[in-house]
Amino acid sequence: MKKIVHVVGARPNYMKIAPLMDALARQTAFAQVLVNTGQHYDENMAGSFFSELQLPRPDRNLGVGSGSHAAQTARVMTGFEEVCIGERPDLVVVVGDVNSTMAAALVAAKLMIPIAHVEAGLRSFDRTMPEEINRIVTDRLADLLLTPSSDGDDHLRAEGVAAEKIHLVGNIMIDTLMRHLPAATFDRIAPRLAVEDGAYAVMTLHRPSNVDDPLVLNGIFAAIKEIARDRPVVFPVHPRTRARLAALANLHDLRGLMLTEPLGYIDFLSLTSHAAVVLTDSGGLQEESTALGIPCLTLRENTERPITITHGTNRLVGIRTDAILAGYREALRNGGAPKRPPLWDGRTADRIVPIFERFLQ
Ligand code: UD1
Repeated sequence: MKKIVHVVGARPNYMKIAPLMDALARQTAFAQVLVNTGQHYDENMAGSFFSELQLPRPDRNLGVGSGSHAAQTARVMTGFEEVCIGERPDLVVVVGDVNSTMAAALVAAKLMIPIAHVEAGLRSFDRTMPEEINRIVTDRLADLLLTPSSDGDDHLRAEGVAAEKIHLVGNIMIDTLMRHLPAATFDRIAPRLAVEDGAYAVMTLHRPSNVDDPLVLNGIFAAIKEIARDRPVVFPVHPRTRARLAALANLHDLRGLMLTEPLGYIDFLSLTSHAAVVLTDSGGLQEESTALGIPCLTLRENTERPITITHGTNRLVGIRTDAILAGYREALRNGGAPKRPPLWDGRTADRIVPIFERFLQ
């Protein structure tokens, strides 16, 4: 029996692996092994996602935890090498662009185990972003490159990847979103937050380039202060960001700003799907808001997901106070008509299954 090893490690990975493992279990006889690197480890950054998304219990936990890029990558590599030598998989599946993704791909490539990369081909063309390095290296090593949108195919072809390795399958995160949306009703979060359906803003912020520099963070919060005067801003705070907020004067006195712990998947979906507008520097949330038809302001200078601008509700506003405020006013004026990019239809996992079957024959 052919064996597939799947790798997850950080919050944005779980919703990409869950629909794929489920479709493979239903439609094939492949043996599946789930490896959790433990890059994220808090209950609300990792643990809750396993139960909510009905992921199987990980077969192996590497427990790598936090650290510098080199330390974290090295710990994933050492642990994952042992797993691969013991399990001898026929295919390693990695998703997204976190350090665990790249580290696992490096290990598999050196052991000559074929690699499938789900969410291949995305590029911000900004190598100051650690994720961009992870994307480039992972795609260079992968044997099956499964892309969410046709811009991904274009980038890979331009980098010289053979056409037969590239498969446009759509956005697998939208499989998870569509599956759980019916459970994400407003009353799930309403009692915890004094906000009215459709009237509030949601913000997430965790990119090192935004939160590690107090000057940048202050500029962003000058805009948030204005927005919070206009409507409540709900802000689930990533642990990296929490550590930086101390540098901001009197944040807790900011009227209209509601800080919360990071939320579970369905609670967060409930929060975003009933919001008036989303402000974020996350990659996944640009896609989720597009699929939901909620206007999104991306607080970055570039995005590896331009399709959310051309085919969705996203606006790249940058990090300057006045630009964020101008984007906010414009987004509320022109709203967010839902326009789903092609193949963001909830059936991406079903399109990946036959590709794996052919490859492993
Ligand atoms: C990582 C990914 C990023 C992704 C993000 C989603 C990389 C390079 N970055 O960034 O692409 O968008 O996850 O969240 O892989 N921490 C905790 N508890 C946890 C996890 C982290 O307290 O469960 C704290 C630690 O202080 C840690 C810091 O957050 O040092 C950053 O965690 P890390 O995994 O290094 O990067 P993220 O910023 O989460």
